[in-house]
Amino acid sequence: MTSAEADAILKTAADNYTATCYSGDRKMPVMRAVSTVARRALLTPDCGCLPQVIAVRGISFSPRQVVASDASFHSVSFSETDHPKVLITGGLGQLGVGLAKMLRKRFGKNNVILSDIRKPASHVFCSGPFIYSDILDYKNLREIVVNNRITWLVHYSALLSAVGEANVPLAREVNITGFHNILDIAVEHGLRLFVPSTIGAFGATSPRNPTPDLCVQRPRTIYGVSKVHAELMGEYYHHKYGLDFRCLRYPGIISADSQPGGGTTDYAVQIFHDAVKTGRFECNLKPDTRLPMMYIEDCLRATLEVMEAPADTLAMRTYNISAMSFTPEELACEVQKQLPDLQVTYNIDPVRQAIADSWPMNFDDSNARRDWGWKHEYDLPELVQTMLGSLGSDSRVAHTS
Ligand SMILES: NC(=O)c1ccc[n+]([C@@H]2O[C@H](COP(=O)([O-])OP(=O)(O)OC[C@H]3O[C@@H](n4cnc5c(N)ncnc54)[C@H](O)[C@@H]3O)[C@@H](O)[C@H]2O)c1
Repeated sequence: MTSAEADAILKTAADNYTATCYSGDRKMPVMRAVSTVARRALLTPDCGCLPQVIAVRGISFSPRQVVASDASFHSVSFSETDHPKVLITGGLGQLGVGLAKMLRKRFGKNNVILSDIRKPASHVFCSGPFIYSDILDYKNLREIVVNNRITWLVHYSALLSAVGEANVPLAREVNITGFHNILDIAVEHGLRLFVPSTIGAFGATSPRNPTPDLCVQRPRTIYGVSKVHAELMGEYYHHKYGLDFRCLRYPGIISADSQPGGGTTDYAVQIFHDAVKTGRFECNLKPDTRLPMMYIEDCLRATLEVMEAPADTLAMRTYNISAMSFTPEELACEVQKQLPDLQVTYNIDPVRQAIADSWPMNFDDSNARRDWGWKHEYDLPELVQTMLGSLGSDSRVAHTS
């Protein structure tokens, strides 16, 4: 293909794009067509075009989308000396507020925007920028990214495993259709995109003890299926369009000051609250159900570290991360070392138990440790001490005020 032919095709596609845009339709099919044609043209030795001068600049998306992808580049939409402008979707769940706090400390309060479809508590609203964003509304997302000159997108919105099984159509909509919006926005605006995956992205046919990064993934929950979909689509867009996609498979996350959002590992948070409040805990998983877990501080630090890792250290785009692995019985024993009167009973939830029985027991995260230096800080004893410390001191504060 000659450069004149490529220019002509690009111009036609650009005209179509403009027409599509003004008619209010979604533009991605046209954009993808432009990208494909442009890549072919640019990769043709006699083309003579340079990526910097291609006509697609005129149709307002990044040249990175139309040049051959190369895993060694970073996002180009902000200078490395500037702070990123971060948008967190689904930010009012268990993890988002803590992440925003950590990122604001590092990048400045106004450079990190929390978003969700729920109303924030007043202390969250007052702690930094918050904005309404429904990830199913593509135009709203685009407006936020453009108006705030977003460069990093942390995509936390999701329906978790147990909630997803209770409402499959909604989980499919939010976790898959919503994610497509996120992907398109990230490619269109050259964003660095972080998407968490999960131990739930594996299934009963995966090796479970330990579970490596690369192995059979046949989950049997809509949550797991949607997360495998996200991993594969993110990696595909990375290779095809150069999207700077970064993904960590989180274990079950344990936190004191935010409630879990309906996952199978929620029991490991609830036990601390019940131990402090009532001295009794009813567990919905069998005593010997072993699952990988992590304290929230480790999880959020891992997220920042992988987002800041130089692209050429990332041999992969989706990594397992791990800290500890325990059963309800082992966790209860550790809590009882501090609170010997704690009584634990078991009332098994068959849905959660079936999910847990198909999930990894131990996570092999050696690639993350090797490639970008991942290292956890909290093992089970430190976790228990920290959780009881902060819940205990919280209730003392509540009691005295
Ligand atoms: N918490 C864990 O143990 C854990 C483990 C592995 C992976 N993850 C992943 O980390 C991410 C964050 O987890 P979390 O525990 O904070 O989840 P959560 O369930 O507590 O929060 C999810 C948030 O998404 C929001 N949301 C739902 N529909 C939305 C929509 N249409 N548009 C915008 N927001 C919407 C909800 O309002 C909620 O605040 C999720 O993607 C989850 O899959 C979490």
